[in-house]
Amino acid sequence: MQTVQDVAALRAVVRGWRSQGYTVGFVPTMGNLHAGHQSLIKLARARTDRVVASIFVNPTQFGPHEDFERYPRTLIQDQAGLAEQGCDLLFAPEVATIYPYGAAQTVSVHVPQITETLEGAHRPGHFDGVATVVCKLFNLLQPDLAVFGQKDCQQLKVIERMVRDLSLPVKILAAPTLRAEDGLALSSRNQYLSKEERELAPLVYVTLQQMRDLVSKGHAWPAVEQAATSKLAKAGFVPDYAVIRRADDLGVPARDQRDGLIGLVAARLGSTRLIDNLIFD
Ligand code: PAJ
Repeated sequence: MQTVQDVAALRAVVRGWRSQGYTVGFVPTMGNLHAGHQSLIKLARARTDRVVASIFVNPTQFGPHEDFERYPRTLIQDQAGLAEQGCDLLFAPEVATIYPYGAAQTVSVHVPQITETLEGAHRPGHFDGVATVVCKLFNLLQPDLAVFGQKDCQQLKVIERMVRDLSLPVKILAAPTLRAEDGLALSSRNQYLSKEERELAPLVYVTLQQMRDLVSKGHAWPAVEQAATSKLAKAGFVPDYAVIRRADDLGVPARDQRDGLIGLVAARLGSTRLIDNLIFD
């Protein structure tokens, strides 16, 4: 697997593939790759002739007091893992390559509505940063297919909406969430957890499952949300939200709606912020 840092080299490789008629799949990441990321590579691999991953810790999607500086950067390990999964090319640009006018002065892509709630409400500007960098990466690579994890469900919806609204010629594929054996959704941020916090962390997924079960037994979702929030708080989390929404657009459901729902939780445990979700089938 080749690693390239600059745009000319990236475009030369992709142009070569195109001239041979190959389709191109793309998996954007911020690195520190785990089995969840690898599963996205595998999905792309199965659907396209050549697979590109990117590793770029994108400054514009981090708030001023978030973990941009301490976000784990593990390029050498990541390269080995990607090669093992059959990734063909890694694009690992510098900040100045992605933001030639500086991150603070970039043209920004703002996706309305879906970004106003949940993660968007708790992390102002986050989705502008995500949409902007993903739009730029799509323009640089022009992939046929890009794979995003259901773990970051709202991000996936933001990207889908951007692609449709800006008529970007790329198909978006959603990948299921990979979990540790105890149910904790795999995340690069899990390594911030202390031993005690790691033991407590699976409660997020347990709570989501309980939310689903209570709704299926006929409990009204506002009461289920309240019970979930206080359960997490009592266990030592600081919940940002534990809510039930419409699965298709993350809007607030009708009081008696039973189908097409999703549970979403974001909660801090010590200095680590965990997010997860579960579609209620
Ligand atoms: P990052 O957090 O590195 O995630 C890269 C991709 O991996 C995302 O699509 C995410 O949803 C997916 N992913 C993370 N954990 C997963 C898991 N446990 N199972 C399955 N997929 C998982 O998300 C980002 O980076 C950035 O916002 C990015 C899209 C790269 C833009 O900067």
